[in-house]
Amino acid sequence: MEKTQMAMLKLVLLGPPGAGKGTQAKSLSEELGLAHISTGDILRQAIQLDSALGKEAKHYVDKGELVPDGLVTKMVIERLKRPDAKRGFILDGFPRNIKQAEDLDSFFAQEGYSDYKVIYLDATEKTIIQRLGGRMICKKCQAVFHMTNMPPKEGSRCDFCKSELYQRQDDREETVKYRLSVYAQATKPVVEYYARQGRIMEFDADRESSVVLKEMLQGL
Ligand code: AP5
Repeated sequence: MEKTQMAMLKLVLLGPPGAGKGTQAKSLSEELGLAHISTGDILRQAIQLDSALGKEAKHYVDKGELVPDGLVTKMVIERLKRPDAKRGFILDGFPRNIKQAEDLDSFFAQEGYSDYKVIYLDATEKTIIQRLGGRMICKKCQAVFHMTNMPPKEGSRCDFCKSELYQRQDDREETVKYRLSVYAQATKPVVEYYARQGRIMEFDADRESSVVLKEMLQGL
């Protein structure tokens, strides 16, 4: 595919918690000039700002439960209508259930986006537990690190803005287990939904991130 066509890509990124969706979406958006739309990041930012959306979402996010469809779908559709997203985007963390996938398809049909692609990053439970157990996030710029896989240069400070790093509330072991059960029950059927449409491009995300990125770029 030509570089100019790649920059207009419309991508949906699916996968279990900790598969590396956020990490790969950031790299893909930088490589291809696409808007990176992460529902998890938008919700965590709203919680930090204590906005009306944040107040409603906090309880669900902290427990690892899905935030009600009405709140999330509206937020995503509004974001997709912005000019940067009209030039190409990567959706990271949406859709998370069949209702969200159907609502997204209705919006895509309305916009004439019939050629969108779905990337599915699969990872084993062992990898997921190791990755989420060591993940650290910057309080200010939300950059993501891992205490052993991608350690920050200076203790627990962000490499980019030097702010403090923290562990996500939902990365505690019991909550990770709960998130995996939510994924199996609500989100795995979305993978099957897109497989039936013949859109899925599947990648083994247990491997080093640069290897996965290279393979995805080749696949696209
Ligand atoms: P969200 O933030 O979307 O969480 P998630 O899907 O569970 O995914 P994660 O962010 O945990 O993992 P990731 O796959 O992005 O991995 P990452 O790249 O960070 O959602 C959080 C919550 O928000 C939900 O539980 C829900 O409450 C709510 N929500 C969000 N969307 C919603 C929706 N559509 N509907 C309703 N509610 C919604 O990598 C993990 C770690 O591993 C990092 O430390 C990273 O450095 C490291 N790493 C990544 N790749 C590699 C690699 N290849 N090798 C080694 N280390 C790696």
